[in-house]
Amino acid sequence: MTANREQFGSRLGFILAAAGSAVGIGNLVGFPVNAAKNGGAAFLLLYAIFVFFICLPVMMAELAAGRNSQKTPLGAYRHFSNNHKGWSIAGWLSLITPYMIAVFYSVITVWILGYFVAICMGNLQALTSPEYFGTFINSGNIFVYLIVITLFVGVILYSGVQDGIERGAKIMMPSLFIMLILLVFFVLTRENAMAGVKYYLIPDVSKITPQVINSAMGQAFFSLSLGMGILITYGSYMDRKANISGSAKMIALADTGVAFTAGLMVLPAIFSFNPNTNTAELSDSSVSLIFTFLPKIFLSMQASVGYVGASIVAAVFFLLVFFAALTSLVSIIEVPVSGLMDQKCYPRNKALAIVGATMVIVSIACAVSFGMVDFFTNFIPYGGQNKSFFDLVIDVFYDTILPLNGFLICLLVVYRWKKQQLNAELETGNTQYRNSLLERYTNFALGTFIPAILLLVFINTV
Ligand code: PHE
Repeated sequence: MTANREQFGSRLGFILAAAGSAVGIGNLVGFPVNAAKNGGAAFLLLYAIFVFFICLPVMMAELAAGRNSQKTPLGAYRHFSNNHKGWSIAGWLSLITPYMIAVFYSVITVWILGYFVAICMGNLQALTSPEYFGTFINSGNIFVYLIVITLFVGVILYSGVQDGIERGAKIMMPSLFIMLILLVFFVLTRENAMAGVKYYLIPDVSKITPQVINSAMGQAFFSLSLGMGILITYGSYMDRKANISGSAKMIALADTGVAFTAGLMVLPAIFSFNPNTNTAELSDSSVSLIFTFLPKIFLSMQASVGYVGASIVAAVFFLLVFFAALTSLVSIIEVPVSGLMDQKCYPRNKALAIVGATMVIVSIACAVSFGMVDFFTNFIPYGGQNKSFFDLVIDVFYDTILPLNGFLICLLVVYRWKKQQLNAELETGNTQYRNSLLERYTNFALGTFIPAILLLVFINTV
């Protein structure tokens, strides 16, 4: 055990940092779109069930494994399996996964920053033209934004756990909450907004199909930042006396609360733009919703608040998403950084430089795979078409490996580390956990149906 491992300074700081990781583009855009298309409140209910009955135990297991081993994922897998070869491979997976997810996520963050800057320069109108997005993502500007974001994240991570990650979260998360609430209030006062609220809150159970269940599950798992080694890493920075299960509940609540609130903003905005919206026709991907549909909605607000007013609303929205994406990026890039610090005993700045530099290169490969460079655009043949490098990374790491990592962590914790040790770790800092319903449920679920469900999701995707 490293004697001088960094630690979070306070419980609130830890919760904000972990919630910062969890709250991201998935909550602000992915969730509302999914909910809109898949039965509104029925989807929300399903999502909440998955968050609390399936994801929460996994979150507690990851945090406990990190705190007990005082290591990042690879080290934790090795520690609990006594350096077993097979488990080391699983450990590597949970180092590579965050690295690759960070790559595609930073490309999307680049676009968000680019839109924010464009709006601030008075170009909201231009963003609504159908060609804007395609032209923008293939312009040289994206490299500049990529460097800016890398430096931003770099400065935060360079300052370490308390002075960087925790302090960053303490500034960005409250700002994010305030911006979100302001936007909700503003949108709810628009004409026809209530049609969206109604649509959002009245459950339509007929829309719930196996496919929808699968997507609610995937959404919940991704949204809580599970399977990416993030919570193992953050767990290793937790104080021995901290209450893991209590903090995990707060993080899950904050994450679900933000997703729900984002729905209260996006859906009414869509309906006030067009009261006869056919939600089935909402864009398939969050990406096209943010970058092509929402700018139009914001621009339409100029009828009541003028062009500058509409631009301000749009700018606040993109800044909000940018903050959410940034705190998620910080948490995910910390995984390989602290992995290098642990495994190679590199100082933080060296680990950061290596991760940052290589990540910029791989991110560029992703960013140019929308037409700029043919090799990456038509990266591999797939189903008669060519898949881009960007799409490949999403398919492999986001859709497939993530549930597999979740499955593996359950097995590691329950069958290698053993339930008794897990319980003992969770009871540290929370004496009431012993023999509680949550403890009994977690013990049972983590060893049985949770890994089974995650394995099913994995097999289903493969
Ligand atoms: N929870 C994030 C989201 O909802 C997912 C994520 C976390 C992505 C960390 C990247 C890094 O968007």
